Amino acid sequence: MKHLLLTPLTYKQQTFNNRIVMAPMSRRRAEGAMPQENMGIYYAQRAGAGLIIAENTAVSPNGVGYLNIPGIFNDAQQAAWKKITGQVHARGGKIFLQLVHTGRIGHPANQWQQPVVGASALPAAGVLRTPYDAQAPFPVPHALTTQEADGLVAAHVQAAERAIAAGFDGVEVHGAHGFLPMQFLHPLTNNRTDKYGGSIENRSRFLLDVLKGIMDAIGPERTGLRLSPFSGLNDLPPFPEELATYRYIVEELRKTSLLYIHLSDQSTNGEPPIPHWYLQELRERFPNLIILAGGYTQATATAMLEAGLADLIAFGRPFISNPDLPERFRHGWPLAPADEATFYHGGDHGLIDYPSYSRPRECAHAAG
Ligand SMILES: Cc1cc2nc3c(=O)[nH]c(=O)nc-3n(C[C@H](O)[C@H](O)[C@H](O)COP(=O)(O)O)c2cc1C
Repeated sequence: MKHLLLTPLTYKQQTFNNRIVMAPMSRRRAEGAMPQENMGIYYAQRAGAGLIIAENTAVSPNGVGYLNIPGIFNDAQQAAWKKITGQVHARGGKIFLQLVHTGRIGHPANQWQQPVVGASALPAAGVLRTPYDAQAPFPVPHALTTQEADGLVAAHVQAAERAIAAGFDGVEVHGAHGFLPMQFLHPLTNNRTDKYGGSIENRSRFLLDVLKGIMDAIGPERTGLRLSPFSGLNDLPPFPEELATYRYIVEELRKTSLLYIHLSDQSTNGEPPIPHWYLQELRERFPNLIILAGGYTQATATAMLEAGLADLIAFGRPFISNPDLPERFRHGWPLAPADEATFYHGGDHGLIDYPSYSRPRECAHAAG
């Protein structure tokens, strides 16, 4: 069906106006981790999506990691987000918030000199941007004590409660791309001997406790999870027990009413793709919604929906430069290219100044 992407979807208590999701995208314009006014304009411009998943947002001050990503750990941030969700709802949109703790992928200079923490004291290779150095190496993270790890589980739950109080329709836990929950999952970043380390069950505990805590607090129908199995992002390459680990997580989650699993394929960024057989396996093993993301076009997204392998498809970069992406799909209008130079910098420029489609002048004249 040509317009399957544009058909509404109702699942349990959630209704989506179409099956087009705006993927979470960090735009790093939240100075001091405070959501800004231009972010409200940006998200409202994109309210035609069936679901917006707002950019990764830190659950605690020591999980900000990058320069200028927003937070949801204090009252001022909550109030600022409330204005933004109000603007999206006023345009008929639906918006979840992606909750992140960056763990070892960060720098104290980006988070008020709070030390960078991780499952273990094992740093990532590579560099990141700070206010002082163009590129600073990732520091050796402080290995969280069991009590501190428990505290960060609680911080995720509190952040989810704040998100709901700020008007979000739900939250997505960022369990992908090598951030803290994945640092617990992965043996290369987790050599712990407490309840959070060792066996698959123990390495999965942090992520599952975060999810269970959030589902208890705000309801499973408002909780989603992003995963990036078989991807090597942020210095966490594929590992031997990976399939068994993800199978265990999905097995645990199928016992819950978690709204969705959102798979992030990073192969357009040079990482290994998520194999097709795994998409089929997930569909068989997980009974609730599945969102797929990573390099989709209208045609490939429609094919995935038709094949029954996904319920919703997330688009990232196309939404940056096409605020009216669903309308462009509906009418077959051309897509504008996104300028990578303003992905993470540029204030309003590259954020809110991409126009909606307008027909070329000649056509307007011809139409009379
Ligand atoms: C500028 C930018 C920022 C991103 N930030 C996030 C993020 O905050 N959280 C996340 O899970 N993925 C993030 N991603 C990945 C996207 O959600 C998406 O998976 C990726 O862009 C692939 O989809 P696409 O090919 O449709 O762009 C980001 C991607 C881009 C381009």
